Amino acid sequence: MVRVNNAGSRASLEKRPDEVATMFDEVAPRYDVMNDLLSLGQTRRWRKVVLEAVDADPGQRVLDLAAGTGTSSEPYADAGVDVVACDFSLGMLRVGKRRRPDIDFIAGDATSLPFAENSFDAVTISFGLRNVNEPRKALAEMLRVTKPGGRLVIAEFSTPTNPLWRTMYIEYLMRALPEVARRASSNPDAYVYLAESIRAWPDQDNLAAWLTQAGWTDVTYRNLSGGIVAVHRAHKPAAATAPAAVPLTKVRRARRSAAH
Ligand SMILES: C[S@@+](CC[C@H](N)C(=O)[O-])C[C@H]1O[C@@H](n2cnc3c(N)ncnc32)[C@H](O)[C@@H]1O
Repeated sequence: MVRVNNAGSRASLEKRPDEVATMFDEVAPRYDVMNDLLSLGQTRRWRKVVLEAVDADPGQRVLDLAAGTGTSSEPYADAGVDVVACDFSLGMLRVGKRRRPDIDFIAGDATSLPFAENSFDAVTISFGLRNVNEPRKALAEMLRVTKPGGRLVIAEFSTPTNPLWRTMYIEYLMRALPEVARRASSNPDAYVYLAESIRAWPDQDNLAAWLTQAGWTDVTYRNLSGGIVAVHRAHKPAAATAPAAVPLTKVRRARRSAAH
């Protein structure tokens, strides 16, 4: 059941898809303003790093998953990349479509993507994977829809590496952030969920291990703002090459010796 009070609804850490979608529907109108406010303007810098890591050429097809209002998708469209913004919150998609009618916004669940296999040159997801009910299933789905040799870039909140910085950050998350949200957001409870879900999320190395287990290769990550955010990168293995042709005489000889 979605928890509702006068200030709106929030998902629990169970992350039931209906709860998560409803919560984002509600925060959609002020989502981007709140992002800038609560990250003290850092989101713009983080997004630039993600864009550079995806490194898409004009005409390439990129899936921006959990794209929300499409703020993470806009730079690709501006650069002539064929970007598809996919999310399961219709409220977020509506705000995005109103602002950028030129971008292809598609409703879809990250754990069961409405796309054919091998259909994107790159897949990216910014601040979305942590909210997905079955994140490892989503990683497998992203692999399925990426072309062989294609790339994945994930931006997600992570674990600051310096203990003092980590303590200060957790203090900010658990005390200051909900207080600012209480004054500025129509749904402050959603920001309590934000803080709790960040704290419960795997650190950099554990997320990297999930990627490898899902079948991604060349997994690396880069910390931003001392590890408040980590950008993970990986590739889908290139298509298995057909075995080299073996001359017929060798096959016959091998069969003969196997028969003895
Ligand atoms: C914090 S917002 C991020 C939006 C955008 N990527 C950005 O950087 O601003 C997280 C988004 O994840 C979406 N989301 C969560 N679970 C999802 C799922 N299973 N399938 C698709 N979208 C999902 C939510 O609806 C929400 O729009």
